[in-house]
Amino acid sequence: GFDSLSGYLAKPPYFGAIIGRYGNRIGNATFKIDTATYQLAANDGKQHLHGGNKGYDKVVWDAQPSDSTASLTLTYLSKDGEEGYPGNLSITVVYTLTDDDELLMEYSAETDKTTPVNLTNHSYFNLTGDVANTILGHQLQVHADKYTPVDAGLIPTGELKAVKDGPFDFLQPHQIGERIAQVPGGYDHNFVLSRTTSDLELVATLSDSISGRKLEVYTTEPGLQFYSGNFLDGSIKTSSGQPIQQHAALCLETQHFPDSPNKPAFPSTLLKPGEKYHTVTKYKITLQ
Ligand code: BGC
Repeated sequence: GFDSLSGYLAKPPYFGAIIGRYGNRIGNATFKIDTATYQLAANDGKQHLHGGNKGYDKVVWDAQPSDSTASLTLTYLSKDGEEGYPGNLSITVVYTLTDDDELLMEYSAETDKTTPVNLTNHSYFNLTGDVANTILGHQLQVHADKYTPVDAGLIPTGELKAVKDGPFDFLQPHQIGERIAQVPGGYDHNFVLSRTTSDLELVATLSDSISGRKLEVYTTEPGLQFYSGNFLDGSIKTSSGQPIQQHAALCLETQHFPDSPNKPAFPSTLLKPGEKYHTVTKYKITLQ
């Protein structure tokens, strides 16, 4: 995090931001709804990433603090045609700090035309609190028995592949650095959460023996993007001047699967007029 707004205005890679209209990638920056083809901004090679050139991380949200609870209500109206998406999308995100050391994030949205929606939060974590330590020593557990393999453009191939015994198997806790060399480029993959309901469930646990801190991730979403900070390169510095190097922090982004608008077999991300988008994610910090 940065101490002042200027750090964020320098466009760091989505630090702490709400991501939308579509978190993660849409292949060839295009999709169809019925017979209409939509062309989005291609801001990641040929692909569309995290909402385009001016995604929700780069717009000013209206913010209303609550009088009675430690919570903040953020609202934004994403206009029809913004970054190529159909429909006026009215969005509310409520952040609440609970007395159980949790950050609760509740996302709601409504549209006036059918549109894909996939909102997430792009906070980076280094539980040691010191970016001189990489996250390769953190232990991660993810309740996912499958993941979505990707092509060279980081677009899912469509396969749901079993994680069993490979470097994506985090069913039991593993140190992140243990098998990362077997994953070209590092972890930047969507895990297919093993869940039977869409209730708020514990889906991942991150822990660090240096600080003794533990982060639990709860969500109603079907997927989790584990990004091991592969593209961090030291060019951005913390408020105390330390360079944020590769693997200095990681993201656990709760979401629907990447490229769902082009993958009919994936859970749908389409929101229709009259429907209510509603997802909940919670980050809980404890000491081991
Ligand atoms: C994506 C990465 C991307 C990063 C940008 C992550 O959510 O999965 O591929 O480079 O965001 O910070």
